[in-house]
Amino acid sequence: MKKPVPVVITIDGPSGSGKGTLSQMLARHLGYHLLDSGALYRLVALAAIKKNIDLSNELAVTQVAMGLDVKFSLDESESARILLEGVEVTDAIRAESVSMGASQIAAYPEVRAALLERQRAFAIAPGLVADGRDMGTTVFPEAQTKLFLTASAEARAERRCKQLLAKGISVDIAELIKDIRERDQRDSTRVVSPLKPADSAIIIDSTTMSIEEVFSRMLAAIN
Ligand code: DC
Repeated sequence: MKKPVPVVITIDGPSGSGKGTLSQMLARHLGYHLLDSGALYRLVALAAIKKNIDLSNELAVTQVAMGLDVKFSLDESESARILLEGVEVTDAIRAESVSMGASQIAAYPEVRAALLERQRAFAIAPGLVADGRDMGTTVFPEAQTKLFLTASAEARAERRCKQLLAKGISVDIAELIKDIRERDQRDSTRVVSPLKPADSAIIIDSTTMSIEEVFSRMLAAIN
């Protein structure tokens, strides 16, 4: 019997574009698997930091990426849980320091190469929703549907600010906008797999849209 070919839907875009939430919603709606590729880069950064490795040491960070011991699972309420070497790091990988570290090490070609097969292994039947920056361009160039979500830096900073406030953390919005622009610049100008829409990607700008509006636009694109 022929093995069924899993459907792959790629969702790329900058951080704060709503990708994470929308990818989860879509995977649940379709009953597909979910790949949060950003989490892998975050895990490499966190693992290296924990091992006291200098993040500018590309070779050492690549070795961390190659040997990454990570487990993705779902808890009783179907929320994602991430274990690094057996230790829960679901929240720890979201820290601002890890975000910055992830952006730094994601620019290393050898680190990206080390994570390639690990990401492709997520494409199993019935299908996969792959969330990242280069899902449609590099990791799954054959994907059936490619989406690219974006929003202005201001709108993304505002969303992040609200998320942080909900956790009781107050932040300077101007600082956030500056950080977001800095990260965008680094992610979209790096030599390997820069952040950019695939040629056939459907671009959705969510600046003035609600999550529900974006979700129905995505469903329309898939259908
Ligand atoms: O989506 P995120 O914020 O969790 O991603 C963390 C970092 O990893 C971000 O700086 C971009 C980088 N990244 C990447 O280079 N390629 C991906 N496919 C996913 C994330």
